[in-house]
Amino acid sequence: MNQDYIIPNNWSIIEEGFDAERVKSSESLFSIGNGAMGQRANFEENYSAETFQGSYIAGIYYPDKTKVGWWKNGYPEYFAKVLNAPNWIGIEIEINGENFDLNACPEVQNFKRELNMKEGWYHRSFVATLQNGTEIEVNVRRFLSLDSDELGVINYEITPLNKDAKIVYKPYIDAGVKNEDANWEEKFWEPLDVKHSENDAFVVARTFKTHFNVATYMSNSIFSNDKNLNLSPVNVDDSAEKVQFLYEVQVAKGEKSSIQKFGGYTVSLNHENSELIAGAQKVIASAKAKGYKTLLQEQIEAWAKIWEMSDITIDGDVKAQQGIRFNIFQLNQTYLGKDSRLNIGPKGFTGEKYGGSTYWDTEAYCIPFYMATKDQQVARNLLTYRYNQLDKAIENAGKLGFTNGAALYPMVTMNGEECHNEWEITFEEIHRNGAIAFAIFNYFRFTGDYSYIPEKGLEVLIAIARFWHQRATYSTNKDQFVILGVTGPNEYENNVNNNFYTNYLAKWCIDYALEQIEKVAKEYASDYSRIIAKVNLDKAEMAQWKKVADKMYFPFSEEHDVYLQQDGFLDKELVKVNDLDKSQRPINQKWSWDRILRSPYIKQADVLQGFYFFEDHFSREQLEKHFDFYEPFTVHESSLSPCVHSIQAAGLGRMEQAYTFYLRTSRLDLDDYNKEVEEGCHITSMAGTWMSIVEGFGGMRVKNDTLHFEPRIPEQWEGYSFKINFRNQILQVSVASNETKFSLEGTKELTVYVNGNAVLVEPNTLVTV
Ligand code: BGC
Repeated sequence: MNQDYIIPNNWSIIEEGFDAERVKSSESLFSIGNGAMGQRANFEENYSAETFQGSYIAGIYYPDKTKVGWWKNGYPEYFAKVLNAPNWIGIEIEINGENFDLNACPEVQNFKRELNMKEGWYHRSFVATLQNGTEIEVNVRRFLSLDSDELGVINYEITPLNKDAKIVYKPYIDAGVKNEDANWEEKFWEPLDVKHSENDAFVVARTFKTHFNVATYMSNSIFSNDKNLNLSPVNVDDSAEKVQFLYEVQVAKGEKSSIQKFGGYTVSLNHENSELIAGAQKVIASAKAKGYKTLLQEQIEAWAKIWEMSDITIDGDVKAQQGIRFNIFQLNQTYLGKDSRLNIGPKGFTGEKYGGSTYWDTEAYCIPFYMATKDQQVARNLLTYRYNQLDKAIENAGKLGFTNGAALYPMVTMNGEECHNEWEITFEEIHRNGAIAFAIFNYFRFTGDYSYIPEKGLEVLIAIARFWHQRATYSTNKDQFVILGVTGPNEYENNVNNNFYTNYLAKWCIDYALEQIEKVAKEYASDYSRIIAKVNLDKAEMAQWKKVADKMYFPFSEEHDVYLQQDGFLDKELVKVNDLDKSQRPINQKWSWDRILRSPYIKQADVLQGFYFFEDHFSREQLEKHFDFYEPFTVHESSLSPCVHSIQAAGLGRMEQAYTFYLRTSRLDLDDYNKEVEEGCHITSMAGTWMSIVEGFGGMRVKNDTLHFEPRIPEQWEGYSFKINFRNQILQVSVASNETKFSLEGTKELTVYVNGNAVLVEPNTLVTV
């Protein structure tokens, strides 16, 4: 393990001691967000050593012109990047004439960071000695309001400990920011307007090309021992893109001085361009009227509501408890489901990597979490996001030569256009299309809300079926349909033929689309006529699809009695991961790409991803065989890997292994298993962590409109509990080693199945099994 400095705690992420080497990792781990904006845990004051600055606004992106070595037809023109947004947190500080910078202080003691997940705030405290000998105690709390999602709050307190101090606070807002991953070193923000009056300032800037307008604002107040001094700035520095105020205070030794800074953004996604500053002024007025203490209290209450529904408790294992809460917290910081224009980026608001926001991760990993812990409208919003991008997915397939309304959803996107530009992924990692169809199936299976399919889903299913029909090739040699030149979920082999997962999903997509067409024709005649007329589909075309589905080829090894990951898998040198020297790992950092591609090593669940989606198509024996065949070659170098393996190991009763995978998925970032947390956290796989408890240990499945459980518990735990919103009934499940308890809110009873036996749960009565 790479790092172990995070102190185990049930509700908080805690770091103690100042270590410049850890700053970038901690900036990721202590990130905060409220669904509308988020930021890395950068220091407010100047910091002259290594740091990765990042502040992000949901839905605001920049199309960075593609940079590749050799252009290939079909590449997208640009890569949509989540932008590093203008900085509103900055507060330069001068103490007795010296610019305060932790990196320049001869001594820093009692340094502590705490991310309080229960209450939704981030706190930093320390005692620092400056070069001029002044010793100060600092306490800073920061949060992004859930109730008012355009508002961020900082309370920055300084107490000089050994002498009186002249403190100069220089809070600023600055649109002169850059992305570390900019392809051409271009600036992404064009400053438009700067305004300030008294303690408030506004910088309006617009993204180049996409023309999102954003007002970044701040409003400052200076306090002494918690009493507002009603100070005005003694100086204002402004340029075209930055405003900085200067406040001076004389602080006696032992006296607490503080600056409160309200800041954040109003954006043109939600306001008229002409109303951005007025919008920000309203947020400031309301925040000032409430005051810091009330705002903090509201934050605590808002997070309590989220936890009320989404918390998972684990007794007897603090690290496991901290892990799952960190995952649930980050998911809620990233996406709250209020806005169907938004989605869940793999790095959320914690870093730049992965650019755009939406990968297949959303459909394959995130939807179950949001379905079960929020109102079902939230999952429906996520599906609608893809429905709204269907035209673009059809255009995208068109660029690659597909016709007749076939859709290929992008590998990564912000607005529906493809933003990925590595041929082996952009053109070949087409299994993503299947996950989008699977999510529609999964949504109906879980929520029972069929209305989505005739209203929207069917059009998506038809366009996806058309794609698979055209993408398959008839092999005269085999008298079967094959799918050539693909990359499966295992990105460690490219351009392979007949990736089992892709072929299986393609067949399933066609079969499922045909089934749904028939059902909608029978039960929703007017929707059916509308859709069929719109997409111009006839029986002859459907018969062609069916041929492909019925005659799909799946590579299989008689010798091993397993489906093969792809045609050539057995030709590889099959040395298991355990027999690989540890110094060679992670292979994606140690080996050339050429070596990786020839190796048998699997980045993440691939055949097993198919067994996860379609578990009930296979027997337990088949799962066991495939798990035993593939897991030993799996390096789990994608964050999406351990959760699927944890669920399957639990299903197979291998609790020790399931537990190891659980720790790996839930503490992937906290313990930095893949040695990359400084780039940001792995947000989408956090939903997989949730699945590994609920579906893995809890064994929850939905079959024939009912909830089934096969509860199991790792021996390291005394008990665990979670809540499920199943079709608007809230069920709490608590598992201990010898019993499982169910309790239900509301007024209606619910029958669930435990290890196959029906159990009637009456509302507000505890049932023990
Ligand atoms: C994984 C993909 C995933 C992407 C974003 C990659 O490392 O291999 O499956 O979609 O990360 O999370």
